[in-house]
Amino acid sequence: MIRQIEDMFFLEGKGFSYVMRVSREGYLLHDWFGKRIAPVPYPEDERGWWCVQTEGEDGVCLDELRQEYPGYGHTDLRRPAVSCGPAGLVLKYAEHKISAGKPRLSGLPSALGDGAETLTVTLRDADMKVRVDLNYTVYEDYGVICRSAVITNEGESELTLDRAYSASIELPRRDLNEIHLHGSWGRERHIVENPLVPGVADISNARGGSGHQINPFITVKDPAATEESGFCLGVMPVYSGNHSTEIEVDQRGRTRINSGINPFMFEKKLRPDESFTAPECLLAVADGLGELSRSFHDFIRDRICRGKFAHSERPILINNWEATYMDFDEEKLLSIAKLAAELGIELFVLDDGWFGKRNNDRCSLGDWVVNRDKLPSGIGGLAKKINALGLKFGLWFEPEMVSPDSDLYRAHPDWAVRSGVRAPGLGRTQLVLDLSRPEVQDYVISAVNSVLDSANIEYVKWDMNRYITDMPRKGFNHEYTLGYYRVMDAIVSSHPNVLFEGCSAGGGRFDAGVLCYMPQIWTSDDTDPMERVYIQYGTSLAYPPSTMGSHVTDGPNQYTRRPVSMKTRGDVALSGNFGYELDITKLPESDLEAIKAQTALCREIRATVEYGDFYRLSDPFKNNVGGWMSVEKDKSRAYVTLTKMLFRPNSWYTHIRLKGLEPSAEYRDKFTGRTYMGDMLMNRGLLVSFPHGDFATLSFLLQRNH
Ligand code: DGJ
Repeated sequence: MIRQIEDMFFLEGKGFSYVMRVSREGYLLHDWFGKRIAPVPYPEDERGWWCVQTEGEDGVCLDELRQEYPGYGHTDLRRPAVSCGPAGLVLKYAEHKISAGKPRLSGLPSALGDGAETLTVTLRDADMKVRVDLNYTVYEDYGVICRSAVITNEGESELTLDRAYSASIELPRRDLNEIHLHGSWGRERHIVENPLVPGVADISNARGGSGHQINPFITVKDPAATEESGFCLGVMPVYSGNHSTEIEVDQRGRTRINSGINPFMFEKKLRPDESFTAPECLLAVADGLGELSRSFHDFIRDRICRGKFAHSERPILINNWEATYMDFDEEKLLSIAKLAAELGIELFVLDDGWFGKRNNDRCSLGDWVVNRDKLPSGIGGLAKKINALGLKFGLWFEPEMVSPDSDLYRAHPDWAVRSGVRAPGLGRTQLVLDLSRPEVQDYVISAVNSVLDSANIEYVKWDMNRYITDMPRKGFNHEYTLGYYRVMDAIVSSHPNVLFEGCSAGGGRFDAGVLCYMPQIWTSDDTDPMERVYIQYGTSLAYPPSTMGSHVTDGPNQYTRRPVSMKTRGDVALSGNFGYELDITKLPESDLEAIKAQTALCREIRATVEYGDFYRLSDPFKNNVGGWMSVEKDKSRAYVTLTKMLFRPNSWYTHIRLKGLEPSAEYRDKFTGRTYMGDMLMNRGLLVSFPHGDFATLSFLLQRNH
C-alpha cells in the first residue's frame, strides 16, 4: 500500500514501512525503513546545530540531511548515489505518481510486478538540467521493496555520468555491523561480519561478473542481532556485472549505503534527452537474520525466478564432468546414463568437451558444432538414446567465450574483448567475446539456439570460466552485462521448456540478475561436503535452496582429497538441487544401493527443501556443527540436516532447537519412528549424538501427525 499524506510518502509491504518526506526546501528525504508504523504524518526531525562551512541558496547544508538519492559537490560532500562531474547535483522533488504494477527496466532483468504497486518520484536539478525518476515498488505479501533509478539528461549538451547507484539509504545510526559474502573459486560466499567504523567501506567487485570474491548481497545489522532477532537490513542489487555497495559512516554518525553498479571504471555519456537506467536493487528489513533470509528466499522464488521451472520440483541429474572430463565417447556416456536411470536419476547432462575438437581446454570455444568422432550420432542422436533410457537430456555451453584456437576466432579475431593497448590476458586459455556488440550477441543467440533446436535438449548449463580483463573503455563492463542480458533473454524466452542452470567456474556469478533467467545456479566447483556446509550455509543468507545446484561427487574429493562417506556426501547435497557428478559405473554395489536410497529420499523431500521455509540452526563458522532445516509452508513436514565437521572425543553435546514447526502438533521422524511435540522440539530441543568419526551427518524427516 502506498499513500501520500501531506508532504510524506508511506509505503507498506509485508511487515515493514518505508517512509519519505519532502523537506520544506523541497528535498526528498529518507525517514524510516523498518517495522510497520502508522501512516500518520509526524514532524520533521530537528536539525541540530552544525558548524556550517557549506550552505546553499536556501540556507541548507545537504551534508546534514538524509537524502533519498544524494548528489555530491555542492553542499553534500559525502559519497553520492549519483554524480556527473565536479559541479555536483542538487536534486529537488518535482512530482510523483502512484501506479499499479511495476515499470520494466529497459534492457535489465528485474522482479515481476504482479500484485505490486509503484511510487515514482521525480527529482530535478534545474541548473544541471538532470532529471531522476526514482521507482519504489512494494508488495502486500513480500517483505522486500524494489528500488531503481532512471537518470535523464534534460540539457542541450552531453552529460557524463560517473556513478549511478540503484539505491541509497541513510540510517540515523552508526553502531552497526556489516555482513557480506566473501570467497574465491572453490570457497564461495563465506560469511564475513565486520563492525562499521567512521569512513567508507566499499564491498565491491571489479572482475567482470558478479564474482566469486564478493557477492552482490550485504546486510547491515545491529551488532547483537542473531538469527532470531535484532535489526537487519539486506541489500541486493539485481545485477551480474561489477557491483558495489558503499557504506559511509559520516562525521555525524549516520550510515549511508549506496548500492548498484560499481562506479570504478564506470562511465555513461548521455546525449540530450537520453536516459540511463540503473539496475534494480532489492531491500528488506527484518527482525533477525533468519527472517531476513526468508524474505529474500520467498521473493527470489516468486518474483525473481520465473517461467515453468520457478516452482517445479527440479530433476535429479547426473553430470559427466567429474566422471569423464573431456575424455568420453557415446558408449561411455550411455553406460553412465543406463545405470543412472536404474538408480532413479532423471536427467543426464553432457558437460564440456562435446564440440569442435575440444579434447582439452585450450581450444574450440565458439565452435558450437558437435564432435562426430566422440558422438557419431550427434547431439540429436545421443539425446534420443538418453531419452530412450528414460532420462531427460541436458547440455553444457560456454557461449560468452572464444578460444584463440577456434574457427570462430580465426574468422572474427576482432570479436574478442581487448584494450587495444596490449594483447589481452588469457584465462583458462580463452578470451571473452565482446557482448557489447549487437552482431556478437546475434551470433551467440543463433549459435546456441540452433543447437537447442536441433535436439530434445531439456536442460542447459550456461558456464562462464574467466574474469573479464583488458576492457576497451570505461563503462564497458556495464555494456557487456547488458549484452549478456539481451542474449539470455532471447535464448531463454524462446525455449520456455528448457531448464537453465547458471555457472561461472562454479559459483562465480551467483546473483539475482542471473536468477531472472535461470532459476538455479551451480553453487561451487568444490563439492567436498565439508566445504559445501560453509558454502551452502553462507549462500543461504541471501538465496533459497531452490537456486543452489548441489551434487554428490567422488570420495576422496578431487580438490581436497578428504575422504567423506557416501551418506554424508548425499545428506549435504540433498539440501539443494540434487544430483551426481562421478563415474557411477565404477562404484561398489554398496554405493549404488546408497544412491538408490538417496534418489528415493530426494523425491520425497525435494518439494520441502526447494520451496519450504529455510531456518539456519547451527553456524559452522562458529561451531563444530553446521545445521539447517526446511519446513513446508503449511508446517506439515520438515527436513533437518546437521553436519559435524570433526569428531572430538568427549566434546560438547550438540543441543539443537528446531524452528518453524507448529507448536501444538505432533511430529513423527520417519527415520527413527520417534514422535515429538512441535513445542518440545523448538523450546526444549534435542541433545543429539553423532555417529563416531569425522564428517558425520544426522538428519530428521519430520511428518506432522494429523
Ligand atoms: C567449470 C564448471 O564449474 C564445471 O562444473 C565444468 O562445467 C567446467 N567448467 C567445464 O569446463
